[in-house]
Amino acid sequence: MTIICTGSIAYDYLMTFPGRFQDHILPEHLSSISLSFLVDSMVKQRGGVGPNIAYTLALLGLHPRVIGTAGQDFGDYRAWLEKRGVDTSGVKIIEDKFTASFFATTDVTNSQIASFYPGAMADAAQVSLRDAQVSANDLVMISPTDPAAMNLYVAECKALGIPYVYDPSQQVVRMEGKDLRTGVEGAKFLFVNEYEFELLQKHTQLSKEDIIRLVPHVVVTLGADGAVIYTDQKEYRIPVAPVEKIQDPTGVGDAFRGGFLTGFSKGFDWDICGKMGSLAAAYCLEQKGTQNHQYTPAEFVARFRRHFDDHGVLDQLS
Ligand SMILES: Nc1ncnc2c1ncn2[C@@H]1O[C@H](COP(=O)(O)OP(=O)(O)OP(=O)(O)O)[C@@H](O)[C@H]1O
Ligand SMILES: [Mg+2]
Repeated sequence: MTIICTGSIAYDYLMTFPGRFQDHILPEHLSSISLSFLVDSMVKQRGGVGPNIAYTLALLGLHPRVIGTAGQDFGDYRAWLEKRGVDTSGVKIIEDKFTASFFATTDVTNSQIASFYPGAMADAAQVSLRDAQVSANDLVMISPTDPAAMNLYVAECKALGIPYVYDPSQQVVRMEGKDLRTGVEGAKFLFVNEYEFELLQKHTQLSKEDIIRLVPHVVVTLGADGAVIYTDQKEYRIPVAPVEKIQDPTGVGDAFRGGFLTGFSKGFDWDICGKMGSLAAAYCLEQKGTQNHQYTPAEFVARFRRHFDDHGVLDQLS
């Protein structure tokens, strides 16, 4: 089984302004704002939901595939992912566009001014799972990207009998209720955080019980309260893994998914899958950025065993 990650592919350009935006905004001239902030630092981070999830899967020793669209500036990102064991052959380059990019400037009060340029991501529906020769032995993660592509992947998975994980996350707000419902019906797994789970119920007009009945495995993450897995009429409460120091919460949900699905691909029980998700998320929380944490499978197993009991099954990882 290969895990196929179809979420967005993006760069984050993060800048810091050593002052306060509010000192430069003139309320009497709001109709003609013209501001340029001289920033004192900028970092370019690799991001996007698809590669974020694939990164954790690869850290744990799997060889996931990323499928999607990126721009003319993707070369170094591709090489970097390949070196870490991620197959990027399914990433199509849209030559006249740049990779989706998030530009954010933060001031000393943590106020933020940001823009998101979708770029090549808007063409994600050009890549089909059929063309990429995804098979019924694989598991497709349908994660936030262009909504048309997400709907296409749902339709293709259903038509080709490919099991899929429905992971609409932040796109719940952007998608039509009927499309979300089509995605939920037929999914093998659903991943959402608590807030997205409420929104999903509202938009699909399905109750929590309906969703749990429709989807064999529903995983709801609860931030610092851990996660809950609803499966076969049984509920598993998953604790968080102790975190040394929280540096940056971005990407924590993606890391959780990567840890959890590695466990699933190895056939581990739900409790272990959930705790693997918690620990993968903890590593991500401890670094700035979504792909800057590092560990070997052996280090992961050793840290897991300091907090949780795996009955020896994690020997299969290291
Ligand atoms: N403060 C924390 N301490 C320890 N673990 C945490 C903490 N916050 C989150 N986690 C872990 O990360 C998992 C996912 O977190 P959360 O529910 O916040 O996801 P999310 O809202 O999708 O995050 P994002 O979309 O920002 O990546 C949780 O289930 C938990 O295991
Ligand atoms: Mg999330």
